[in-house]
Amino acid sequence: MNENAQQCVDWRSEEFLAELRQSEQELRVAHSEYTSTVSSVDMAASLQCCGLLRALLTTLRPEKVLNLGSGFSSYVLRRYGPDLGSNHIVCVDDDEDWLELTRNYLQGRQLDTLNTLSWTEFALHHAREEFDLVFYDLGRMPTRTLILPLATTWVRETTGLLILDDVHKPAYREAVSKSLNGICTIDDISDLTTDELGRFAWLATDFTRTSIGTG
Ligand SMILES: C[S@@+](CC[C@H](N)C(=O)[O-])C[C@H]1O[C@@H](n2cnc3c(N)ncnc32)[C@H](O)[C@@H]1O
Repeated sequence: MNENAQQCVDWRSEEFLAELRQSEQELRVAHSEYTSTVSSVDMAASLQCCGLLRALLTTLRPEKVLNLGSGFSSYVLRRYGPDLGSNHIVCVDDDEDWLELTRNYLQGRQLDTLNTLSWTEFALHHAREEFDLVFYDLGRMPTRTLILPLATTWVRETTGLLILDDVHKPAYREAVSKSLNGICTIDDISDLTTDELGRFAWLATDFTRTSIGTG
């Protein structure tokens, strides 16, 4: 992980915005194909959000990446991550059928399916791991809300990043605010991630564990 980059990246700088635009452009055809043959547009992670993931891989070079909620994002992380230094990518889903669909999609593109895990497998064997980048887009909203506090424990303290998709939903956004209050800094990146359906993401950084369990 390029720690200096994480601390210095200005998400609205011309440089990062150019990276973002280029990433979206690069993914456009594959995303369009994915959302017309594999998944509906509303269930797949947006082109904007996946463009952000792609740009983060390039800019921050995260070594350990956690993909909570499989799908097109799994393709992006596995297609580009290894060449950019992501040597440990874990992809998790609570729906075994979707996980299998994702595996098939990856295999069809000659991409690695190592560490594509069910929620149960992951929770059992990786409970104490910390990741440089976590993309949180798992399951249906009640499950996602319930698991959120746990998901924050997998973000590396201080330098790790957490991308929370679908915070355009008011109830979920409120749950995210409550859950993350006091343990990290939240950046509303709706200006960078809003898609044609009005969905957008938040970015959380600067995680600290010291306040957990003290109050
Ligand atoms: C918003 S989707 C996650 C999308 C995923 N992160 C991606 O990159 O495309 C949330 C959950 O819905 C399920 N899912 C994914 N694609 C789906 C689809 N097209 N239809 C129904 N469920 C889907 C998976 O279990 C996933 O964890």
